[in-house]
Amino acid sequence: MLEILYGYVFWTIQLIIFGGIIAWIINYVNNEQSYWNEHGVPSMRSIFLFGTDFELGFDDWPSITMRHVRRYGKFFGGYQLLTPILTIMDPELIKQVFIKDFHCYMDRIQPRTYHELLNQNLLFSEAKKWKRMRSIASPSFTTGKLRAMTKTMNNCIDRLFNNLDKIIDQSNGQLETKKIVAGFTMDVIASAGFSTQMNENLGEDDLFFKSGIGLFRSTFIRMLAVLTLPRFLLNLLNIRFLFSPESFEYFCNLTREIIRQRKTMKQKPVDLLQLMLEAEVDEKVIDDNNFDNLEATDDQSDEQAPEIEKKNQSSNKKKLTESEIIANSIFFLIAGFETTSSTISHCLFQLAWHPEIQQRVYEELKENLSDLDYNSKEYYDQVMLYLPYFQAVVKETLRYYPPVTILARRVTVDETKLNDIPLKRGTIIRIPTHAIHHCEDYYPDPERFDPERFMPENKDKLVPYTYMPFGLGPRNCIGMRFAYQEVRLALSRIIMTYRFETIPGVTQKVLSFGPRTPLLSTSPFKLKITKR
Ligand code: HEM
Repeated sequence: MLEILYGYVFWTIQLIIFGGIIAWIINYVNNEQSYWNEHGVPSMRSIFLFGTDFELGFDDWPSITMRHVRRYGKFFGGYQLLTPILTIMDPELIKQVFIKDFHCYMDRIQPRTYHELLNQNLLFSEAKKWKRMRSIASPSFTTGKLRAMTKTMNNCIDRLFNNLDKIIDQSNGQLETKKIVAGFTMDVIASAGFSTQMNENLGEDDLFFKSGIGLFRSTFIRMLAVLTLPRFLLNLLNIRFLFSPESFEYFCNLTREIIRQRKTMKQKPVDLLQLMLEAEVDEKVIDDNNFDNLEATDDQSDEQAPEIEKKNQSSNKKKLTESEIIANSIFFLIAGFETTSSTISHCLFQLAWHPEIQQRVYEELKENLSDLDYNSKEYYDQVMLYLPYFQAVVKETLRYYPPVTILARRVTVDETKLNDIPLKRGTIIRIPTHAIHHCEDYYPDPERFDPERFMPENKDKLVPYTYMPFGLGPRNCIGMRFAYQEVRLALSRIIMTYRFETIPGVTQKVLSFGPRTPLLSTSPFKLKITKR
């Protein structure tokens, strides 16, 4: 009898403890996930424990963010598991986060996966490490250094033209635009990044290309796990990347091998890897950096370069470590392949649908470039600094199809305020670039492809801090000048040599977006290409 009573008491106590723990967890999660309600900020519908980001594992990110903005407005909350996320679209708040109060929002989101090499790149590294690496790497991305890669890029454009000519001969000019352009931009990053040439088909059966593509392939399960599981669980499951581990291993080994060869080479090639190997700045430059002079500002200006050169005279130099060089070089490939490919192919898509724009930009290019050698300084200066309509077409392409559809920052101080709302350390600030670029308030008739918006005479109509294909502030895209150089050299030569048309019944009018990625991934499309 006593035994039964003891048993009863024992199980009752167990049940109370267990129930208590469950109740505490429920209360804790509910408390954490009611942060925005408590502060009067509209909040997305949250799933207990998982938060509001579940959707990102299913649908495409541009459509999800457009839907959210329509439903919740320009300032609303959400949760990534228990971490609060604040989405902002107001230009003044964007300026505050990216520029004015940059010191409070210096980091991006850390990926939940952890690999000692991947997590060391500029994109993911945390404030202190990032500041040191960016100070060392920034002088390598000045116009002076990048211009030396013009010939390499032009050689890739020559190989692209060989391929385009074959397509005109053999496939009746039906161009799988995205596939062919992707082969070209991979060739550029292989050549200008690692001095490694791809095979002449630019893609088919090329190991560099296949492995490069692998860096963008993820499975549904992998994506969902990475979006929803904490790091310790991902480590337990040995999920260390979002994408193919084999591809990452291939590039780690390739970069290590190239670095080994470079040590004994007398004549070093000019490529991004070499720039990283040689990059060094004075310790003082890093210490003195107040972040203002780190920003790769507009595409032409190198204002910070002389300043850094001046401070860079003493002997206490800091370099990148070998693993940082590997991590960043591989990341340049990830960052520089799909983004530039997307910009070039989307521009051609819009030009095919708008023959009048294509003709106008062709005439401008023809008038100013036809007598120039495309490897000359004059050609370079023209495509980088002048030709207003051509620049406007490229800018409008990047507005219409920003290759990175969402930007993020993280609160890196214990407490700060945005729009009078207190934010705690770790809060994620999300900036839906695609939704901002397609917002009627900033770009009237946003679904119309209209380069006029970016013509000098219309400059005053643009709303500051609403155009951000390369991000904003000191932590913007370090590769912006490299990207502009590649895109402008390629597009200027392509448009002068070929004409693009839509194929009735084949070329779709509107491109659909692929799911589960912050990078813009549109459906494949065919265009008709003819030689001029
Ligand atoms: C059209 C081409 C490109 C676009 C649209 C683009 C866009 C972006 C965007 C939106 C960001 C985030 C900026 C922010 O958070 O404020 C970024 C970061 C970055 N991009 Fe690019 N990018 C392009 C090409 C490149 C290329 C060619 C490279 C390298 C060669 C590159 C390297 C990087 C790096 C390293 C970062 C992280 C910078 C840091 O945190 O300091 N990107 N890019």
